[in-house]
Amino acid sequence: MQTVHTVAELRQQLATWRAAGECIAFAPTMGNLHAGHIDLIHAGLTQASRVVASVFVNPLQFGPKEDFGRYPRTLPDDAAKLEAAGCDLLFAPSVEAMYPHALPLTTQVQVSQVSEGLEGAFRPGHFEGVATVVNVLFNLVRPDVALFGEKDWQQLAVITRMVRDLHLPIEVVGVPTRRESSGLAMSSRNQYLGDAERTTAAVIYATLMTIAHELQQGSRDFRGLEQAGMQALQAHGFEPQYVAIRSPDLQSPANENNSLVVLAAALLGKTRLIDNLRVAL
Ligand code: PAF
Repeated sequence: MQTVHTVAELRQQLATWRAAGECIAFAPTMGNLHAGHIDLIHAGLTQASRVVASVFVNPLQFGPKEDFGRYPRTLPDDAAKLEAAGCDLLFAPSVEAMYPHALPLTTQVQVSQVSEGLEGAFRPGHFEGVATVVNVLFNLVRPDVALFGEKDWQQLAVITRMVRDLHLPIEVVGVPTRRESSGLAMSSRNQYLGDAERTTAAVIYATLMTIAHELQQGSRDFRGLEQAGMQALQAHGFEPQYVAIRSPDLQSPANENNSLVVLAAALLGKTRLIDNLRVAL
Protein backbone atom coordinates (compact mmCIF):
# COMPACT_ATOMS: atom_id res chain seq x y z
CA MET A 1 0.00 0.00 0.00
CA GLN A 2 1.19 3.45 -0.87
CA THR A 3 0.59 6.40 1.48
CA VAL A 4 0.37 9.88 -0.02
CA HIS A 5 -0.03 13.21 1.71
CA THR A 6 -0.55 15.64 -1.16
CA VAL A 7 -3.27 16.19 -3.72
CA ALA A 8 -0.72 15.98 -6.57
CA GLU A 9 0.55 12.53 -5.48
CA LEU A 10 -3.02 11.29 -5.01
CA ARG A 11 -4.06 12.46 -8.47
CA GLN A 12 -0.98 10.97 -10.09
CA GLN A 13 -1.63 7.48 -8.69
CA LEU A 14 -5.35 7.60 -9.45
CA ALA A 15 -4.72 8.74 -13.04
CA THR A 16 -2.60 5.63 -13.65
CA TRP A 17 -5.34 3.34 -12.36
CA ARG A 18 -8.06 5.15 -14.24
CA ALA A 19 -6.07 4.96 -17.49
CA ALA A 20 -5.86 1.18 -16.94
CA GLY A 21 -9.66 1.05 -16.63
CA GLU A 22 -9.65 0.16 -12.92
CA CYS A 23 -12.77 0.56 -10.80
CA ILE A 24 -12.11 2.58 -7.63
CA ALA A 25 -13.76 2.23 -4.23
CA PHE A 26 -13.21 4.88 -1.57
CA ALA A 27 -13.53 4.75 2.22
CA PRO A 28 -13.20 8.18 3.86
CA THR A 29 -12.27 8.06 7.58
CA MET A 30 -10.93 10.23 10.35
CA GLY A 31 -8.49 7.52 11.38
CA ASN A 32 -8.07 5.73 14.73
CA LEU A 33 -9.35 2.75 12.84
CA HIS A 34 -11.27 -0.14 14.37
CA ALA A 35 -12.84 -3.27 12.90
CA GLY A 36 -15.82 -1.26 11.64
CA HIS A 37 -13.53 0.79 9.40
CA ILE A 38 -11.79 -2.35 8.18
CA ASP A 39 -15.22 -3.67 7.12
CA LEU A 40 -15.40 -0.65 4.78
CA ILE A 41 -12.15 -1.74 3.12
CA HIS A 42 -13.35 -5.35 2.81
CA ALA A 43 -16.65 -4.15 1.31
CA GLY A 44 -14.67 -1.98 -1.12
CA LEU A 45 -12.60 -4.94 -2.24
CA THR A 46 -15.79 -6.79 -3.23
CA GLN A 47 -16.97 -3.83 -5.34
CA ALA A 48 -13.86 -2.52 -7.09
CA SER A 49 -10.38 -3.43 -8.29
CA ARG A 50 -8.70 -0.70 -6.19
CA VAL A 51 -9.54 0.58 -2.73
CA VAL A 52 -8.50 4.03 -1.57
CA ALA A 53 -8.89 5.16 2.05
CA SER A 54 -8.43 8.62 3.51
CA VAL A 55 -7.47 9.55 7.04
CA PHE A 56 -8.24 13.18 7.74
CA VAL A 57 -9.55 14.73 10.96
CA ASN A 58 -11.70 17.39 9.37
CA PRO A 59 -11.81 20.62 11.41
CA LEU A 60 -14.91 21.83 9.53
CA GLN A 61 -17.19 19.23 11.12
CA PHE A 62 -16.30 19.90 14.78
CA GLY A 63 -18.10 22.52 16.85
CA PRO A 64 -16.02 25.00 18.90
CA LYS A 65 -16.57 22.97 22.11
CA GLU A 66 -16.08 19.56 20.50
CA ASP A 67 -13.10 17.21 20.54
CA PHE A 68 -11.16 18.26 17.40
CA GLY A 69 -7.98 18.91 19.42
CA ARG A 70 -8.02 15.62 21.32
CA TYR A 71 -9.47 13.40 18.57
CA PRO A 72 -7.08 10.39 18.50
CA ARG A 73 -4.52 10.63 15.69
CA THR A 74 -2.85 7.27 15.11
CA LEU A 75 -1.64 7.36 11.51
CA PRO A 76 1.16 4.70 11.64
CA ASP A 77 -1.24 2.19 13.26
CA ASP A 78 -4.00 3.11 10.81
CA ALA A 79 -1.67 2.63 7.84
CA ALA A 80 -0.63 -0.82 9.10
CA LYS A 81 -4.27 -1.88 9.55
CA LEU A 82 -5.26 -0.61 6.11
CA GLU A 83 -2.35 -2.37 4.45
CA ALA A 84 -3.20 -5.65 6.22
CA ALA A 85 -6.83 -5.28 5.06
CA GLY A 86 -5.77 -5.02 1.40
CA CYS A 87 -6.20 -1.27 0.89
CA ASP A 88 -4.24 -0.03 -2.16
CA LEU A 89 -3.74 3.65 -1.38
CA LEU A 90 -3.98 5.82 1.73
CA PHE A 91 -4.51 9.55 1.37
CA ALA A 92 -3.53 11.29 4.62
CA PRO A 93 -3.39 15.01 3.94
CA SER A 94 -2.59 17.82 6.39
CA VAL A 95 -5.23 20.49 6.99
CA GLU A 96 -3.15 22.80 4.77
CA ALA A 97 -3.04 20.25 1.93
CA MET A 98 -6.82 19.78 2.06
CA TYR A 99 -7.70 23.42 2.54
CA PRO A 100 -4.80 25.43 1.07
CA HIS A 101 -6.80 28.66 1.31
CA ALA A 102 -7.75 30.26 4.61
CA LEU A 103 -10.46 28.63 6.71
CA PRO A 104 -13.40 28.95 6.94
CA LEU A 105 -13.92 27.94 3.34
CA THR A 106 -15.89 30.35 1.20
CA THR A 107 -17.69 27.40 -0.40
CA GLN A 108 -19.74 25.10 1.79
CA VAL A 109 -22.09 22.29 0.89
CA GLN A 110 -25.42 22.34 2.66
CA VAL A 111 -27.81 19.41 2.36
CA SER A 112 -31.01 20.78 3.84
CA GLN A 113 -33.89 18.82 5.44
CA VAL A 114 -32.07 15.53 6.01
CA SER A 115 -29.32 17.41 7.91
CA GLU A 116 -31.85 19.03 10.22
CA GLY A 117 -32.94 17.50 13.54
CA LEU A 118 -31.24 14.62 15.42
CA GLU A 119 -27.46 15.17 15.06
CA GLY A 120 -28.08 18.41 13.17
CA ALA A 121 -29.97 19.84 16.15
CA PHE A 122 -27.20 19.01 18.64
CA ARG A 123 -24.20 19.67 16.38
CA PRO A 124 -24.94 22.86 14.42
CA GLY A 125 -22.78 23.08 11.29
CA HIS A 126 -21.63 19.46 11.60
CA PHE A 127 -23.24 18.17 8.43
CA GLU A 128 -22.13 21.20 6.39
CA GLY A 129 -18.58 20.27 7.45
CA VAL A 130 -19.12 16.61 6.56
CA ALA A 131 -20.82 17.30 3.22
CA THR A 132 -18.13 19.83 2.30
CA VAL A 133 -15.15 17.58 3.10
CA VAL A 134 -16.76 14.54 1.48
CA ASN A 135 -17.44 16.61 -1.64
CA VAL A 136 -13.81 17.77 -1.72
CA LEU A 137 -12.62 14.19 -1.26
CA PHE A 138 -15.00 12.92 -3.94
CA ASN A 139 -13.64 15.57 -6.33
CA LEU A 140 -10.07 14.49 -5.60
CA VAL A 141 -10.57 10.72 -5.66
CA ARG A 142 -13.47 10.54 -8.15
CA PRO A 143 -14.42 7.06 -6.91
CA ASP A 144 -16.92 4.74 -8.58
CA VAL A 145 -18.11 3.47 -5.19
CA ALA A 146 -17.94 5.12 -1.75
CA LEU A 147 -18.36 3.28 1.54
CA PHE A 148 -19.78 4.70 4.76
CA GLY A 149 -20.63 3.03 8.07
CA GLU A 150 -24.31 2.70 8.93
CA LYS A 151 -23.50 3.66 12.52
CA ASP A 152 -23.64 7.27 11.34
CA TRP A 153 -27.05 6.73 9.78
CA GLN A 154 -27.89 10.40 9.32
CA GLN A 155 -24.46 11.06 7.79
CA LEU A 156 -25.09 8.24 5.31
CA ALA A 157 -28.49 9.77 4.48
CA VAL A 158 -26.90 13.23 4.00
CA ILE A 159 -24.18 11.89 1.66
CA THR A 160 -26.69 9.79 -0.29
CA ARG A 161 -28.88 12.86 -0.80
CA MET A 162 -25.90 15.05 -1.77
CA VAL A 163 -24.75 12.51 -4.38
CA ARG A 164 -28.28 12.32 -5.78
CA ASP A 165 -28.87 16.07 -5.86
CA LEU A 166 -25.47 16.90 -7.39
CA HIS A 167 -25.61 14.04 -9.93
CA LEU A 168 -22.28 12.69 -8.69
CA PRO A 169 -21.48 9.47 -10.58
CA ILE A 170 -20.77 7.55 -7.37
CA GLU A 171 -22.55 4.59 -5.82
CA VAL A 172 -22.87 5.17 -2.07
CA VAL A 173 -22.83 1.94 -0.08
CA GLY A 174 -23.74 1.65 3.62
CA VAL A 175 -21.79 -0.93 5.63
CA PRO A 176 -23.41 -2.49 8.73
CA THR A 177 -22.30 -1.37 12.20
CA ARG A 178 -19.63 -3.47 13.94
CA ARG A 179 -20.37 -4.11 17.62
CA GLU A 180 -18.43 -5.25 20.67
CA SER A 181 -19.71 -8.52 22.19
CA SER A 182 -21.66 -6.31 24.68
CA GLY A 183 -23.54 -4.76 21.76
CA LEU A 184 -21.69 -1.42 22.02
CA ALA A 185 -21.25 0.02 18.53
CA MET A 186 -17.56 0.38 17.68
CA SER A 187 -16.47 3.99 17.53
CA SER A 188 -13.18 5.85 17.74
CA ARG A 189 -14.73 7.85 20.59
CA ASN A 190 -15.23 4.69 22.73
CA GLN A 191 -11.66 5.10 23.89
CA TYR A 192 -12.69 8.16 25.87
CA LEU A 193 -14.77 5.80 28.09
CA GLY A 194 -13.50 4.49 31.42
CA ASP A 195 -13.93 0.76 32.20
CA ALA A 196 -17.22 1.18 34.11
CA GLU A 197 -18.56 3.57 31.45
CA ARG A 198 -17.71 1.07 28.72
CA THR A 199 -19.92 -1.51 30.43
CA THR A 200 -22.76 1.00 30.87
CA ALA A 201 -22.42 2.20 27.27
CA ALA A 202 -23.88 -1.09 26.02
CA VAL A 203 -27.23 0.00 27.49
CA ILE A 204 -27.76 2.19 24.41
CA TYR A 205 -27.89 -0.87 22.17
CA ALA A 206 -30.08 -2.73 24.71
CA THR A 207 -32.48 0.24 24.69
CA LEU A 208 -32.64 0.28 20.89
CA MET A 209 -33.27 -3.48 20.93
CA THR A 210 -36.15 -3.07 23.41
CA ILE A 211 -37.79 -0.45 21.19
CA ALA A 212 -37.22 -2.60 18.09
CA HIS A 213 -38.87 -5.54 19.87
CA GLU A 214 -41.91 -3.42 20.83
CA LEU A 215 -42.26 -2.23 17.23
CA GLN A 216 -42.00 -5.79 15.96
CA GLN A 217 -44.66 -6.82 18.48
CA GLY A 218 -46.99 -4.30 16.84
CA SER A 219 -46.67 -1.17 19.00
CA ARG A 220 -47.04 2.04 16.99
CA ASP A 221 -46.94 4.38 19.99
CA PHE A 222 -43.83 6.03 18.55
CA ARG A 223 -43.82 8.92 21.02
CA GLY A 224 -44.32 6.63 24.02
CA LEU A 225 -41.51 4.31 22.89
CA GLU A 226 -39.14 7.24 22.37
CA GLN A 227 -39.93 8.60 25.84
CA ALA A 228 -39.47 5.18 27.45
CA GLY A 229 -36.08 4.93 25.70
CA MET A 230 -35.02 8.35 27.05
CA GLN A 231 -36.06 7.29 30.57
CA ALA A 232 -34.19 3.98 30.34
CA LEU A 233 -30.99 5.81 29.36
CA GLN A 234 -31.46 8.39 32.14
CA ALA A 235 -31.98 5.60 34.67
CA HIS A 236 -28.55 4.21 33.75
CA GLY A 237 -26.77 7.53 34.23
CA PHE A 238 -26.77 8.81 30.64
CA GLU A 239 -27.76 12.31 29.64
CA PRO A 240 -29.83 11.35 26.60
CA GLN A 241 -30.12 13.89 23.78
CA TYR A 242 -32.61 12.03 21.62
CA VAL A 243 -34.20 8.67 21.10
CA ALA A 244 -36.07 8.86 17.81
CA ILE A 245 -38.00 6.51 15.56
CA ARG A 246 -37.85 7.44 11.89
CA SER A 247 -38.34 5.97 8.44
CA PRO A 248 -35.01 4.86 6.89
CA ASP A 249 -34.81 8.21 5.05
CA LEU A 250 -35.38 9.99 8.37
CA GLN A 251 -38.99 11.07 7.82
CA SER A 252 -41.49 10.85 10.70
CA PRO A 253 -42.58 7.25 11.17
CA ALA A 254 -45.96 6.10 9.86
CA ASN A 255 -48.05 3.08 10.82
CA GLU A 256 -47.66 1.62 7.33
CA ASN A 257 -43.82 1.74 7.21
CA ASN A 258 -42.42 -1.76 6.73
CA SER A 259 -38.98 -0.67 7.90
CA LEU A 260 -37.97 1.86 10.53
CA VAL A 261 -34.78 3.02 12.18
CA VAL A 262 -34.41 3.80 15.87
CA LEU A 263 -31.69 6.35 16.60
CA ALA A 264 -30.19 7.54 19.87
CA ALA A 265 -27.58 9.98 21.10
CA ALA A 266 -26.52 10.34 24.72
CA LEU A 267 -23.72 11.68 26.84
CA LEU A 268 -22.07 9.26 29.23
CA GLY A 269 -19.86 11.37 31.43
CA LYS A 270 -18.07 13.59 28.93
CA THR A 271 -18.36 11.14 26.02
CA ARG A 272 -21.05 11.58 23.40
CA LEU A 273 -22.27 8.30 21.93
CA ILE A 274 -24.63 7.65 19.02
CA ASP A 275 -26.14 4.46 17.70
CA ASN A 276 -29.07 3.25 15.64
CA LEU A 277 -30.88 0.07 14.77
CA ARG A 278 -32.80 -0.74 11.62
CA VAL A 279 -36.08 -2.58 12.29
CA ALA A 280 -37.84 -4.71 9.68
CA LEU A 281 -41.60 -4.88 10.36
O1 PAF B 1 -17.51 9.37 9.41
C1 PAF B 1 -16.42 9.97 9.42
O2 PAF B 1 -15.41 9.45 9.88
C2 PAF B 1 -16.34 11.39 8.89
O3 PAF B 1 -17.50 12.10 9.17
C3 PAF B 1 -16.01 11.43 7.39
C4 PAF B 1 -17.09 10.79 6.54
C5 PAF B 1 -14.69 10.72 7.13
C6 PAF B 1 -15.87 12.89 6.93
O4 PAF B 1 -14.86 13.55 7.63
